[in-house]
Amino acid sequence: MRKRLLLQSVAAASLLCSLILSHAQEAVFKIGLILPLTGPFASTGKQLEAGARLYLSQQGDTVAGKKVQLIVKDDTGVPDVTKRMAQELIVNDKVQVLAGFGLTPLAMATAPIATQAKTPMVVMAAATSSVTEASPYIVRTSFTVPQVVTILADWAIKNDIKKVVSLVSDYAPGVDSETFFNQRFTAQGGTVIEALRVPLRSPDFAPFLQKVRDAKPDALFTFVPAGVGAALMKQFVERGMDKTGIRVIAEGSVTDDDIVDGMGEVALGVVTAHHYSAAHNSPLNKRFVEAFGKANNGLRPNFMAVGAYDGMHVIVEAAKASKGAGNDALLQAMKGQSFESPRGPVSIDAQTRDVVHNIYVRKVERIDGKLWNSEVQTFTAVKDPGKAAK
Ligand code: PHB
Repeated sequence: MRKRLLLQSVAAASLLCSLILSHAQEAVFKIGLILPLTGPFASTGKQLEAGARLYLSQQGDTVAGKKVQLIVKDDTGVPDVTKRMAQELIVNDKVQVLAGFGLTPLAMATAPIATQAKTPMVVMAAATSSVTEASPYIVRTSFTVPQVVTILADWAIKNDIKKVVSLVSDYAPGVDSETFFNQRFTAQGGTVIEALRVPLRSPDFAPFLQKVRDAKPDALFTFVPAGVGAALMKQFVERGMDKTGIRVIAEGSVTDDDIVDGMGEVALGVVTAHHYSAAHNSPLNKRFVEAFGKANNGLRPNFMAVGAYDGMHVIVEAAKASKGAGNDALLQAMKGQSFESPRGPVSIDAQTRDVVHNIYVRKVERIDGKLWNSEVQTFTAVKDPGKAAK
């Protein structure tokens, strides 16, 4: 009898325990953030993590009555690892949302997992047009490469650039850059003398730059992902190409804010198009740059940091609207959001789930001894031309 009573009370206690546990689990809103924190794209991961953490620290640690828990994973920039981590975050940690995705192949590898689990996946970095079409659960807060390079092609034509050589990293966003820039440029009478592609990993730019030199274009048009532009510009100077009169025009990742000040004289006058500059002149951006620097040893935020900051905004606002519910209710509440970002006005197109925002033409300038991407022209509410083309 005694034994029976004891067993019954043990059973009751464990039931209570599991009830408390499951309640505690329900009262947490979990975000799985997968980033390349080590490896060749570690600067991207670092900026993304810092941007996400800054947003959460400013907004407080509860949403819709639940505690927000950020679970950060390092995928080292390898797609199979990203995919496995996404699976673990959904199955073991039961996250309500996946976020991050530092490069297009990492987002593409994970898209089927988001679809199967009906888990919203917020892409904060990858920028190939087709990313949002890989899963109906993807929402993007970064940018698209066609959004920026088409505007740069128009600028080139208007500024007396008649012949270019294009040089891009040989993977999806590089191919988007080449395709969309070259088409838009040639459609207006420009000539692309040669279209060069350089390996994504450990690129040696020297033989490609030699080809650019021999072709004698008015300008080199280039795209490499965030962080890599420093090596490209270094080799450009080492080969004396800054003395040849060949101008450099680029997708804005090439002079990203993390590295532009370290590029030196060669960067002065480089013209790019992009959606974010740390020099963007708005009170919100000034506060953002200052708070980001304070929290990160004086680091200047680049567009990756803003993609993550805004991605967290979209997630938190959606969680409030869905009252903490996940899956389709959470996804639905992300669509059509519109808000002011450090980059300017932003909205999430309810049909395409892609970001709509201003694109700026910028010129690298020295201001108070430091190099910045100064915005010289603004194109408002730009949608992804990659979708319109289909
Ligand atoms: C991408 O892989 O989609 C990507 C990564 C870094 C960039 C731009 C695009 O700066």
